[in-house]
Amino acid sequence: MSKGEGSAIRKADLLIVANRLPVDRVVGPDGSVSWRRSPGGLVTAIEPVMRENDGAWIGWSGGADDDIDPFVEDGMSLVPVTLSGQEVEEFYEGFSNATLWPLYHDVVAKPEFHREWWDSYVAVNRRFAERAAQVADEKALVWVHDYQMQLVPAMLRELRPDLRIGFFLHIPFPPAELFQQLPWRRQLLEGLLGADLVGFQRPGAAQNFVRLVRQRVGHKTHRDLVYLPDGRTVRAAAYPISIDTPGLERLARTESTEQRAKEIREQLGNPRTVLLGVDRLDYTKGIYDRLRAFRELLTQGDLSVDDCVFVQVATPSRERVEQYRRLRDEIDRLVGRINGDLGKIGSPAIHYLHTSYPKDEMAALFRAADVMVVTPLRDGMNLVAKEYVACRYDDTGALVLSEFAGAADELRQAFRVNPYDINGMKDAILTAVHAQPRDLARRMKAMRKTVSEHDVKGWARRFLESLDETAPEHNKKVRPATAQ
Ligand code: G6P
Repeated sequence: MSKGEGSAIRKADLLIVANRLPVDRVVGPDGSVSWRRSPGGLVTAIEPVMRENDGAWIGWSGGADDDIDPFVEDGMSLVPVTLSGQEVEEFYEGFSNATLWPLYHDVVAKPEFHREWWDSYVAVNRRFAERAAQVADEKALVWVHDYQMQLVPAMLRELRPDLRIGFFLHIPFPPAELFQQLPWRRQLLEGLLGADLVGFQRPGAAQNFVRLVRQRVGHKTHRDLVYLPDGRTVRAAAYPISIDTPGLERLARTESTEQRAKEIREQLGNPRTVLLGVDRLDYTKGIYDRLRAFRELLTQGDLSVDDCVFVQVATPSRERVEQYRRLRDEIDRLVGRINGDLGKIGSPAIHYLHTSYPKDEMAALFRAADVMVVTPLRDGMNLVAKEYVACRYDDTGALVLSEFAGAADELRQAFRVNPYDINGMKDAILTAVHAQPRDLARRMKAMRKTVSEHDVKGWARRFLESLDETAPEHNKKVRPATAQ
């Protein structure tokens, strides 16, 4: 029996707690179950550190009432947590994705507040905390991730005061004026304060948090530190997440990716300009307004379907949540109308793909695109923008980027847009389409340097080192990943 299997779970020195496991459960046509590594960046970032430290990962399989024993997949110890059908509705679709998600993203959709959803959020967070308390070795390090798990740090500290606890929020943290709406605002802040280190994508988010803690919980604060009455100190700071830059660049450089990119352009009719959008189908991503801007460029004759095409990949997401269903219908209608009004035989204006693609196909799409259009209304980071840059190893291509994505702090040489300003967006797209290769090369080179110097392994290292400094009293060292 391999480590972690069966009832006797081996204790871990490093524990990741995230809503989702790093693998997706795949059920074959014959009913057989297998696990596929999920494409997310988090696994890539953390996997090497996990391997060095006997790590384990606690998360949900994505299904209802799955009762799965801990198992080892691809050398990683995975500890599934079970959610009932009702919890999937109330904790996942409800409180996580219809309350917190819109509230934390500038209220771009109206958050719903329901007391039963909150109760479910508390119950599920407690289950994760209890599981972590069982699995963590003496003085282990536990790294809790994202908005679905904000109560886990305090619940876990109560059960296991010996642990060192870090928390990282992958999405924005809203300003006090919005966060204040939440009926359970104080409980969430206190939940997070169970961690020694609370990490955010942007410095402004860390400042929002510290200010709220001072105002709402009444603790003393100084710069990025919160002083708790029990003598403990909590640090809140920014650790902008990144991607596996060398891995992606290597993939982009392969012969098969180049070949596939060429094929994609051919299949699109070898247009002069390929514009590309790649997003989860989410109302925060600004897909609707982006496509409207593109339509206006076509109707006004600034661009033409004869030599220009927009490819929009929209990955299905949270499909049972009402706001997501509505968005899907709206985008379907808009794309249909644009293609119906402006497309020609063999030249639709928009190629709309409601699906997800494996990494190699994504790399080929990034290689095939002349202009990458990333225009979220609000986004914690947006890794797609960084992935595009990593794939443009020959310093070609243009990135149009919303100033409301965390990535805009680092990718300063992008063509920046305010996604609410349709005219501004049209101007930026046109400027990007017509930019001189020398200008594009200068911009891309600088952005590539940024994503090369700040990759996801560096992100994990920085976070874990800060945690060492913030909570030195639990000094069981976590070994950094060996350099590769
Ligand atoms: C965002 C969140 C993640 C989440 C992912 C996919 O990136 O920050 O926590 O896992 O979206 O969403 P899903 O609801 O499918 O887990």
